Amino acid sequence: MKGNSEISGFYKLSVEERRKKIMDVVGLSDEEFKAALRIGEADRMIENVIALFQFPMGVATNFQINGKDYLIPMVIEEPSVVAAASNAARIARIGGGFRSVCDEPIMMGQIQINDIRVPFAAKIRVLERKEDILSRANECDPVLVKLGGGALDLETRVIDTKSGPMLVVHLLVNVRDAMGANAVNTMCEAIAPMIGELTEGKPLLRIISNLATHRMARAWATFDKGLLGGEDVVNKIIKAYHFADGDPFRCATHNKGIMNGIDALVIATGNDFRAVEAGAHIYASLGGYHPLTHYEKNENGDLVGSIELPVACGTIGGATSSNPLAKLSLKILGVESAQELACVIASLGLAQNLAALRALSSEGIQRGHMALHARNITVMAGAVGEEIDIVARKMAEEGKVRVDRARDILEEIRRS
Ligand code: MEV
Repeated sequence: MKGNSEISGFYKLSVEERRKKIMDVVGLSDEEFKAALRIGEADRMIENVIALFQFPMGVATNFQINGKDYLIPMVIEEPSVVAAASNAARIARIGGGFRSVCDEPIMMGQIQINDIRVPFAAKIRVLERKEDILSRANECDPVLVKLGGGALDLETRVIDTKSGPMLVVHLLVNVRDAMGANAVNTMCEAIAPMIGELTEGKPLLRIISNLATHRMARAWATFDKGLLGGEDVVNKIIKAYHFADGDPFRCATHNKGIMNGIDALVIATGNDFRAVEAGAHIYASLGGYHPLTHYEKNENGDLVGSIELPVACGTIGGATSSNPLAKLSLKILGVESAQELACVIASLGLAQNLAALRALSSEGIQRGHMALHARNITVMAGAVGEEIDIVARKMAEEGKVRVDRARDILEEIRRS
């Protein structure tokens, strides 16, 4: 990045001006910015393609993570999310930005073995042959091994199920910069017959686990109490967090707000947001459904927020490589590895949550939502150019954001 991610008044620029700004700051060519998914490429991505479905792509500003500046592309249909993240990042930046550490990119595949007579002994037989099993797995992906990744360990568990005892073998694979599902699934399928023979059981499912607890992403940041709105706001945010911690109904929404940011970036980079969602929510439910973020106060009374969740995302492979817009997102981000991307994802989730809790524990979120909603309604009513701002502002002031009211105001201003 040529400049930093603090771009003042970015939201006030026109779309064209924003594009130009990002091109300048990131150092992108016109050509790179023309990225678009074409119908022919889409037809190779999934089956029965009939059209392309578009979403808005915005950029969150102000992020500084581990001392490095990031402009974060976000693909999302919900108003206020991008602005809220940018705002929280602005506050965090003054406290030194986000600090983040992420695990090595280790994914886990599961092999289910049924109908074993002596499952506990079979478990040990598998471990005795661990090196042979790992070698067989690594034969599937010499490129990954060459890049420093590959199958590196096995775990075994005997579980009791409605179909009787089962042996579950976990294959741990360092997938480097990929999300890793393809590599892991291929390896699991390759080693399943060997494990079946060793255990004298019947292998059934051979598939990645989306509970990627070996691939945790963690971030924290200090939010200055003055910038948040004072001590009272800090206390209210902590109470809001305790509400989520004590009540699953609130906690679902608390975590949903975190995923507003996380999904938006995961989608922008062409990653599998269902995998990240599944991992986040099952992780949150281990030991009782809990918030993915935590809040505490430091000795100055500033708010210290942190987040921990599994993040299975890649910077190569899948739609990350085949969707030109995902490639553009990765260029805007400037991340050099999947691990670095996970650090940005975790920091963004924390920023999003802080912004939501701050708004909820002060004026509520509707005013922000309504301002943009009013603009959409105004356009639906037929307003153009400057009319849009005038009509939207008037409706928001009146607290009546409706198409019929927009039409009336529009008529009034056109008459005058
Ligand atoms: C809305 O998409 C997300 C929030 O509901 C999150 C929250 O309540 O913490 C604002």
